[in-house]
Amino acid sequence: MARLILAIETSCDDTCAAVLDGPRILSNLISSQAAAHARFGGVVPEVASRHHLELTAPLVTAALAEAGASLDDVEAVAATAGPGLIGALLVGISTAKAIAAARRLPLIPVDHLQGHVAANFLEPEPLEPPFLCLVASGGHTLLAGVRDHAGHELLGQTLDDAAGEAFDKSARLLGLGYPGGPALEKLAAEGNPAAFEMPVAMARDPSLNFSFSGLKTALVYRCRELGEEGVAEHRADLAASFQAAVVGQLIAKLKRALKKGDWEAVALGGGVAANGPLREAVAALCEEQGVRLKLVPRELCTDNAAMIGSAARFAPRLEYPHYLGYDAFASGESPAAA
Ligand code: KG4
Ligand code: ZN
Repeated sequence: MARLILAIETSCDDTCAAVLDGPRILSNLISSQAAAHARFGGVVPEVASRHHLELTAPLVTAALAEAGASLDDVEAVAATAGPGLIGALLVGISTAKAIAAARRLPLIPVDHLQGHVAANFLEPEPLEPPFLCLVASGGHTLLAGVRDHAGHELLGQTLDDAAGEAFDKSARLLGLGYPGGPALEKLAAEGNPAAFEMPVAMARDPSLNFSFSGLKTALVYRCRELGEEGVAEHRADLAASFQAAVVGQLIAKLKRALKKGDWEAVALGGGVAANGPLREAVAALCEEQGVRLKLVPRELCTDNAAMIGSAARFAPRLEYPHYLGYDAFASGESPAAA
């Protein structure tokens, strides 16, 4: 009997396809476009859409092959509906619609952020709600209160830049390539986090919101003061000091959220959750606060389709043909199916 979920994720610059059997990942393929965008120093939406167009269908074929499955085994097709780059999303959702319609299968549109939360529901060690989830990616930074599998309550979010965006912009300032997060983390490992004073914004603010644009500006000023040679000499220290300030703010807000709520478990999601010093700091905080910590593997923190398939298990299904007019959404809430 068909029981697998085929999932597609194309919200930004990674083309992803996965096949899931319940919470079990049978295949989870990612074709990174990073190299195509690197020479522009960031993601170019039109370039991303065109790459998705070329890559999505072959990646779906490869994901099914790796899972040892065919479309006969698939009971529903899931795809990220938003938020993200609208052209990129449209490629994924249109591909999913086409596959689903050809087979008269249901379509499951998935919210990308719920996908990051749902990465925690995957095997081998699925985390059961309730838990507090910090999602920090290139486009979003938020604290999610997860009380069931189907959704999350937004407890706080960034008021300006996302944490990953701050990593990417600061990495660029330090002459590192795109994507900046992993490169900056590597460079920071050789530096002294106390070398430069960087503002830990919002630390005393009672809300659970974040702000990272001031930190980026502080780094710009430091670099100006140091001049080209000074920056070259202190690059690792600058990276380490910047990273420590980002981690400091994320930890301060996580701690505040733990104090405000009755959470017994903490989870992380989003690309920034792959950051080693952040993972270590969250582990130390959880130990201090006596709460359980769930760390998903790094490859499930960054964008992937397995997390979309995981969220799809608990999301509303649109039966054929009611999704034929369904549209992706760049930001905000999912529109009702047309
Ligand atoms: O979740 P994700 O793959 O895509 C979005 O939904 O945005 O997150 C990508 C972001 C990028 O900004 C990238 O620089 C950042 O996550 N990132 C990291 C690390 N790995 C990825 N930031 C800090 N340290 C890392 N190791
Ligand atoms: Zn993401």
